[in-house]
Amino acid sequence: MRALGVGPSRVLRAAQTLWAAGALLASGMLAALGGCDDMSEQAKQRAYSPGVGIVATPDHVVEYGETAPQVPALTPALLERGQDRFRIFCTPCHSELGDGRGMIVQRGFPPPPSYHTQRLREAPTQHFYDVITNGYGAMYPYADRISPADRWAIAAYIRALQRSQNATLSQAPAADRGDLR
Ligand code: HEC
Repeated sequence: MRALGVGPSRVLRAAQTLWAAGALLASGMLAALGGCDDMSEQAKQRAYSPGVGIVATPDHVVEYGETAPQVPALTPALLERGQDRFRIFCTPCHSELGDGRGMIVQRGFPPPPSYHTQRLREAPTQHFYDVITNGYGAMYPYADRISPADRWAIAAYIRALQRSQNATLSQAPAADRGDLR
């Protein structure tokens, strides 16, 4: 044992020194933390005080397991609302025409498909609702920003956009045909 040159008493002394240093450090930290009691004083809701509990679900949120609201009736007001929301949320990538050449795409974002392809013209309106809700490939979901009612409004507007790019003159109202010729 003596060969190591460290006797039991020296080991003990070293341990005592270390212990003392540790205790000093810990008490220093406690003193420093003592200055942080602002957190216990700050304004907060106390448990069981009125107003504490489950926050009411905001109107635009569909809770898990809840079914989507009824498909709204197709009206000019619905289309106008759809156009308004479409311009805000979708045109940056899909463009005003829905051909997928929006400004973000011109600046390098992956291009979406045109809404005027045969596949998307034949897709059910529900598909557009679902893409807005869940996203699709590189497109992120909009469920947290667009209410279920507005998703239907946008889907209806996309149907109108599709129609606008694939219509014949005879399908336009007689009064407007002169302007379209
Ligand atoms: C930031 C760009 C961006 C925005 C904003 C955006 N999209 Fe897209 N969208 C894409 C891209 C990219 C794709 C193609 C994704 C893929 O195939 O990976 C796509 C695909 C789609 C598709 C086609 C899905 C299919 O079946 O091929 C639909 C429909 C669509 N988006 C609807 C919308 C609607 C409605 C909005 C607005 C609420 C919107 N997008 C906003 C980028 C965007």
